[in-house]
Amino acid sequence: MTAPVLEVKGLSKSFGGVKAIRDLSFQVHPHDILGLIGPNGSGKSTTVNTLAGVHAASAGEIVLDGAHVQTLPEYERVALGLARTFQTARLFPEFTVREQIALGAQVTRRSHPLSSVFAFGRRSAEDEAVAAHVEELLDMTGLRPVAETKTGAISSAQQRFLMIAMALAARPKVVLLDEPAAGLVAHERKELGRLIREIRDSGVAVLVIEHHMGLIMEICTRIVVLNFGAKIAEGAPEEIRNDKAVIDAYLGEAA
Ligand SMILES: Nc1ncnc2c1ncn2[C@@H]1O[C@H](COP(=O)(O)OP(=O)(O)OP(=O)(O)O)[C@@H](O)[C@H]1O
Ligand SMILES: [Mg+2]
Repeated sequence: MTAPVLEVKGLSKSFGGVKAIRDLSFQVHPHDILGLIGPNGSGKSTTVNTLAGVHAASAGEIVLDGAHVQTLPEYERVALGLARTFQTARLFPEFTVREQIALGAQVTRRSHPLSSVFAFGRRSAEDEAVAAHVEELLDMTGLRPVAETKTGAISSAQQRFLMIAMALAARPKVVLLDEPAAGLVAHERKELGRLIREIRDSGVAVLVIEHHMGLIMEICTRIVVLNFGAKIAEGAPEEIRNDKAVIDAYLGEAA
């Protein structure tokens, strides 16, 4: 049994009187594509935002590759290997696709951004590694044809793939995807499924929130189901599909 790359223990988050997450525990292992599903308002995005450090947890522990990160700011969690995408696009419209991906890599640079100015010959190794990784990500995400296009001018589907490329540019150990299939048509969803599997195969564990059950059931190794902020089921896609509590709370309406 390998150690989990991400361990969530007794996590809770309240907004005033609203208990958005209640005593949530689960683990993400290195070869997992873990699905996080549940009805609207069940706490999925709050879970991702609390894991990422956008919200401070009200209680509980978040352990990333053995390190407790629940009190660290967002950028430190990214630097330690926890990257995420957002439910809606957040891009600089005047940047090219290649520039925008490269921006995602800046968080993990060891050296000060100005060090290259002073380091003379030693500058290039890190810069070249970043540039090579950006080229790999352009190919992996199918964005090579629009590498020189401004992010404001690409399709919304391409923007979704771009956000994933940016998250991967930070060289995460685990990536959190919040509704990556939103607004995608069938062939784009298929491409997304392929990409998510390729991400996992490249050694990056995936936690994916999604309402599109076809995609979830096809790609996930395990699924965690939330309802009113609490976990009501966890298991393989087949177990979840046939779970009475899950059908009553969610799948009855979504299927
Ligand atoms: N910043 C916030 N301030 C106050 N309440 C919030 C905040 N964010 C979320 N909530 C509340 O927490 C609960 C969970 O919301 P959340 O956005 O996590 O649900 P979700 O499962 O992602 O839903 P959806 O499927 O619609 O995206 C909801 O009751 C929501 O109104
Ligand atoms: Mg949400």
